[in-house]
Amino acid sequence: MVTIGFTGDIIFSSKYFKESWQKEDLFDQGIKDYLKEADYVVANVEAPMTSAAGGSGGSISHANPPESIVRLNDLNANIWNLANNHAMDCGPEGVSDTIALAEANGIRHFGAGMNEEHAGRIVELDEAGGIGMFGVVYYKDFLKAGVDKPGCITYDEPEKIRAIIEKIKEKNRWCVLVVHGGEEFASMPLPYVRRLYHKFLEYGADAIVSHHSHTLQNYEKVGDKMIFYSLGNLVCDTDYQRLQKHTQEGALIRLTFDEEKYTWDYHGTKIDRQEHKVVSCEPTAIFTNIGEEQFRKLWPLGAWNYCKTDRIASIYFNPHKADFTALQWIQNDISWFGKNIAMELLRGRLLYRLGLWRSADKKLVEYLLE
Ligand SMILES: [Fe+2]
Repeated sequence: MVTIGFTGDIIFSSKYFKESWQKEDLFDQGIKDYLKEADYVVANVEAPMTSAAGGSGGSISHANPPESIVRLNDLNANIWNLANNHAMDCGPEGVSDTIALAEANGIRHFGAGMNEEHAGRIVELDEAGGIGMFGVVYYKDFLKAGVDKPGCITYDEPEKIRAIIEKIKEKNRWCVLVVHGGEEFASMPLPYVRRLYHKFLEYGADAIVSHHSHTLQNYEKVGDKMIFYSLGNLVCDTDYQRLQKHTQEGALIRLTFDEEKYTWDYHGTKIDRQEHKVVSCEPTAIFTNIGEEQFRKLWPLGAWNYCKTDRIASIYFNPHKADFTALQWIQNDISWFGKNIAMELLRGRLLYRLGLWRSADKKLVEYLLE
């Protein structure tokens, strides 16, 4: 039997944490104890661990000081996931510094590398018949690793992902896929994300642990497999995020494997914005199983909710968009998300008007309408 813990997003470089990461009690004892009981902990190291230039600590560019490794050690983080949209914020040097720091400290890592072969690195554990893990990030081209280009495997490369899953399953009982994807500030996945993650399960992955939205999202039991759509923030706090609801809360999870099955449990967390610390708390209402039937009812409300958050984020960076017409927003969505996702969002907003979501779970409806 072996237990693996997983964290949400960890960024120390924002103005709120660039000093606060030095606090020995940054994480409360409940968080540390929960992860200490795991044999392995996969920390989502969202920003490169480097002093290289580039990670300004603003809203869109980040670097964790290498010294902040002491706080990752508090989390018992002996495996780092590096597949993140901020992986390239400090260029190739940021990637190589992070990997060098991990390796100098005996920490295993996956998710980013100096070329595509290294980006697809697998971490294998011997326990429970063998467990293989790797990480992928969402679809932006600048993150994509190439033959001689540092970066990550992106989730629009299904054949590469399938090949890695199959390689893992050739000699391991289990495959865990860590995905840094979905939409920032969304409360639940869009249908295309759900379809994609289900496809990864069909390829042979046994569990999917995802993050990136900076919000806690629902999970889904699919047969005897689990998808966690977003663990939210563990440590990440910027003015940009403070404009959005539920960016303080997150969850840690643990998966416990034997050769026959795996089970899971969770521990809720919250960023204390007064003290600049992270404390234990109950997860938000959305952290629940949403299966096919509930999802079909709810997703238009989720899409409507997401469009509201996306408009806030877009106007933060481009104030002139506050005056956009509905047509201009559609054009904006097409240029940012691509035609297929933009059309899915539009479809969701049209279905939202039909109101079928009113018959969905009341607590979830209230949460998404907040
Ligand atoms: Fe992210």
